[in-house]
Amino acid sequence: MNHWKLLTIPAFLLFFVGGCSDSGRFSQPIAYNHKKHIEEAGLGCFDCHTGAQTHQKASIPNIHFCKNCHEEAMTDSKEEEKLVGFIKKNELIPWVQVHRVPDHAYFSHRRHVSLGKIACQDCHGDVNNMTLPFTKPHVSINMEFCIRCHESKQVTTDCAACHR
Ligand code: HEC
Ligand code: HEC
Ligand code: HEC
Ligand code: HEC
Ligand code: HEC
Repeated sequence: MNHWKLLTIPAFLLFFVGGCSDSGRFSQPIAYNHKKHIEEAGLGCFDCHTGAQTHQKASIPNIHFCKNCHEEAMTDSKEEEKLVGFIKKNELIPWVQVHRVPDHAYFSHRRHVSLGKIACQDCHGDVNNMTLPFTKPHVSINMEFCIRCHESKQVTTDCAACHR
């Protein structure tokens, strides 16, 4: 039990000292709207998160993808104006990645999405209806979150499977 406590205390302190902003939320550079792009632009998760079926990282799309439609403004939205600004300057949008496992744990999208056939929504929530960008994870990505599902689906809970 002791090593658990030793590791938990510094993590607990870090949370208050720096790391997350007040209340553990992040802010995003553009108020991106998932619902609009899924319903009005007819795009699906894999069009934008191109690594989700084939790679460890799902990947977050940036200007090279957005400019297919937003090279010139199509609305009078201030948020779109920011986007067109990034595209014109050929500058990457500094998205903040909100879901993250630490370096000592291994997580692969390909494994869960393609082989495990788990829906994005089971881990990330009702993204289809989100009108504001992610400021915090839908479910906190802690060890219990992983283990609970592995137990229920009879997948390995060997320490070495996740801690490589
Ligand atoms: C296939 C075309 C397409 C692509 C690619 C696309 N969008 Fe859009 N985008 C749209 C459409 C359609 C609208 C809605 C326009 C309207 O409201 O009339 C929109 C609206 C927006 C707006 C205006 C604000 C709002 O939500 O109403 C922002 C900001 C935006 N998109 C950001 C992005 C970003 C960031 C990317 C790249 C990650 C992107 N879009 C990629 C089609 C696209
Ligand atoms: C079994 C749970 C699970 C499922 C299913 C899942 N994710 Fe994730 N997702 C995670 C975890 C855990 C992280 C943090 C991973 C990291 O730090 O590399 C993450 C991170 C991400 C990220 C940001 C980092 C990256 O990988 O680029 C995106 C984008 C993402 N997921 C999209 C998706 C999409 C789209 C789907 C469905 C096709 C999906 N996820 C399915 C658990 C899941
Ligand atoms: C038009 C492109 C586009 C489509 C379609 C799209 N996304 Fe995203 N997604 C983004 C952008 C841009 C971000 C970064 C802004 C944000 O956090 O909302 C993002 C962020 C995310 C994140 C948070 C990543 C992190 O950890 O920071 C998840 C999870 C995610 N999307 C899942 C999905 C799922 C599930 C679908 C399908 C239901 C989907 N996305 C469809 C563009 C898209
Ligand atoms: C919603 C259920 C679910 C969640 C949540 C989940 N997993 Fe999994 N995981 C699975 C399934 C199902 C498989 C087996 C996929 C297959 O058929 O290969 C799997 C397989 C794995 C494997 C491969 C195991 C092996 O046999 O080598 C690793 C590693 C893994 N998951 C890590 C994680 C981590 C780390 C997390 C938390 C960040 C996590 N998983 C969260 C369902 C889940
Ligand atoms: C299914 C994947 C998975 C398995 C199996 C797993 N872990 Fe973890 N573990 C994680 C993830 C993901 C984290 C990071 C959690 C976070 O950042 O809060 C973690 C964090 C930890 C930490 C850091 C302290 C903490 O709570 O964040 C320790 C210590 C640890 N695991 C030990 C173990 C031991 C010992 C085993 C075997 C009995 C084990 N883990 C099995 C996924 C797993």
